[in-house]
Amino acid sequence: PRKIIIDTDPGQDDAVAILLALASPEELEVLGITAVAGNVPLPLTQKNARIVCELAGKADVNVYAGCAAPLKRRLVTAEHVHGKTGLDGPVLNDPAMPLQDTHAVEFLINTLRREPAESVTLCPLGPLTNIATALQAAPDIAPRIREIVLMGGAYFQVGNITPTAEFNIYVDPEAADIVFRSGVPLVVMPLDVTHKALVTKLRNDAFRALPGPVGHAVAEMTDFFERFDKEKYGSEGAPLHDPCVTAYLIRPELFTGRHINVEIETRGDFTQGMTVADWWRVSGRAPNAMFMGDLDANGFFGLLTERLARL
Ligand code: BDR
Ligand code: CA
Repeated sequence: PRKIIIDTDPGQDDAVAILLALASPEELEVLGITAVAGNVPLPLTQKNARIVCELAGKADVNVYAGCAAPLKRRLVTAEHVHGKTGLDGPVLNDPAMPLQDTHAVEFLINTLRREPAESVTLCPLGPLTNIATALQAAPDIAPRIREIVLMGGAYFQVGNITPTAEFNIYVDPEAADIVFRSGVPLVVMPLDVTHKALVTKLRNDAFRALPGPVGHAVAEMTDFFERFDKEKYGSEGAPLHDPCVTAYLIRPELFTGRHINVEIETRGDFTQGMTVADWWRVSGRAPNAMFMGDLDANGFFGLLTERLARL
């Protein structure tokens, strides 16, 4: 299996992404989960990460807490989408499993130095603060990372937190800039893709009908989470942003995109955190990211339902 570290700010869609990874041990070996501030503050995201591990029946996965605030800015959170806890919807028990003592950034650096070069893939599902901090503190880890597969950005679909920016990139654009300039191979799941991964009523019924507590909890999470997108975009259901990352690692053929140049706007008055994607290759700048544009939604939900049934 492919070795991964999931860096996350759960978040209902983060939770589903983690569940999918933990349900897929043949393809993915989760070396650890690092929490970052994002959808809700760090004390909640690290707790939520542990709740999700226990929900999956995998209390032996190590969870580390990382950065509590973006590199240079005040934290912006998204309770308006995810609720006060970040995981509003289902009734979930407080976790019994411990939080690891090591800081997430230290864990990232140590693991990348210890594991064979180019064997570990990073999966950021929130603001890129932990990853950028690790790259800054230990530049030697960059060439050791196999790939960074992240959820963030938007191009034709534009923004969800400002007219031009997607939440994860907007919250810490300086961190995103460091990651996008790092030279590490990047695969990016922007809103253009994730807004095609919509939990329709039929798909949510399929989750709810699964045996065991996981399908039910996922259905309750999406019931809560979909209100925002239904009201805002008139969309058919909740977009499963972050599970696109873990689905890609299991079934890359579900996604199509272009290897292009993507720059992060850190200064614009109206465009902070925008992912300026050179989709038509007009800039002459060297490609730095596989920027996805489309997915096979039925294949994606088929995979997700089949895997959640295993937990
Ligand atoms: C991203 O922001 C968060 O609210 C979600 O968890 C996802 O990672 C979507 O813009
Ligand atoms: Ca997230």
